[in-house]
Amino acid sequence: MTRARIAIIAGDGIGPEVIDAGLPVIEAAARSEGLALDVERLPWSAEHYLRTGETLPDEAFEHLRNDVDAILLGALGDPRVPGNEHARDILLGLRFRLDLYINFRPTRLFHPRLSPLRADRRTDGGSTAIDFVIFRENTEGQYLGKGRSESMGTPDEVQVSEEINSRKGVARIIEAAFEWAAERGKTRVTMSDKSNAIPFQRIWGRLFQEIGERYPGIQREHRYVDALALELVREPERFQVIVTTNLYGDILSDLGAGLIGGLGIAASANLHPGRAGLFEPVHGSAPPLAGKGVANPMATVLTGALMLEQLGCTAGSARLERAVERVAATGPLTVDLGGGGSTADVARALMQALA
Ligand code: NAD
Ligand code: IPM
Ligand code: MN
Repeated sequence: MTRARIAIIAGDGIGPEVIDAGLPVIEAAARSEGLALDVERLPWSAEHYLRTGETLPDEAFEHLRNDVDAILLGALGDPRVPGNEHARDILLGLRFRLDLYINFRPTRLFHPRLSPLRADRRTDGGSTAIDFVIFRENTEGQYLGKGRSESMGTPDEVQVSEEINSRKGVARIIEAAFEWAAERGKTRVTMSDKSNAIPFQRIWGRLFQEIGERYPGIQREHRYVDALALELVREPERFQVIVTTNLYGDILSDLGAGLIGGLGIAASANLHPGRAGLFEPVHGSAPPLAGKGVANPMATVLTGALMLEQLGCTAGSARLERAVERVAATGPLTVDLGGGGSTADVARALMQALA
């Protein structure tokens, strides 16, 4: 049995519920493929912040950087912290400070009936399968909080938010997308920006061409992000790999989730090759659902699949994906997917489907 050290930050709202439900399934899949998870639960959350004033203390950050093989996060966000300070320090803080520059967001339809798109598209067999991944830049763009306030509180108030697109930052996410595509025999990479309106984004086009030329077997395609949003709804099966900025990747990944059943089934991984990653469902803390036992644990289980893959346990990862595929077909499903099952019902079914 190999072992991996996993730090859990369950967080806020439905975060602890989906972690409690999903983690045993992830552990069971790993164990059955020879990987034991040594799990440590950490308290960083809105609750902890409100009680102590601490978001993510430096020693905790050092521990996460030096002593773990992966971090699994539930969700962060709480109406009692309207400024979202704790989530910025913990979630964005870990992405930036661990330099996890790839936010990898697979978008795959597990069962035709989960998609809100036209029936003739979703039941038409393989050629209309929805199966693309988003490579979201994860360490710059508009997310660094750079900018300034001018004349605050006066009629002349201006808030300036800067978007950073560095050569190194843009190049490494584009490279990651092409590398991933090449390793998996993908034939097209789509880069998305809004450089027609935002001239400083032209660096994306330049680097996309420069780097893409090193991959002659892969077609390069560009879409302005507004046009891409439309095309993703009309013809999502065309897309294989999308690479884009931090903000557009955030928005497009929720759109993508919408195509495959919603946030309850969308997973993501924050990666820097060769380092420990941070794994989190795409969804947030869903305050209206918190405490009701109805949140869908599938996104967490699929996030676990990304974690096991990164830990080298590909068989365990495949097992988790198969389990979700099976339960998506047979039920029980939670309310977000049109069922009437609870979080625990779905987790139990996933556990049984592992066998
Ligand atoms: P959200 O993802 O929390 O929820 C939006 C809606 O999607 C929910 O009301 C619910 O109807 C549905 N939903 C989400 N997850 C679900 C699940 N597992 N099962 C069933 N339905 C689900 O987004 P929001 O309402 O915009 O944000 C709420 C809070 O979460 C905010 O504080 C926000 O900042 C935070 N947030 C955190 C993360 C994260 O921790 N990674 C991600 C997104 C949002
Ligand atoms: C996500 C979330 C976060 C983001 C928020 C909570 C800061 O929406 O992980 O998609 O914008 O990255
Ligand atoms: Mn988001």
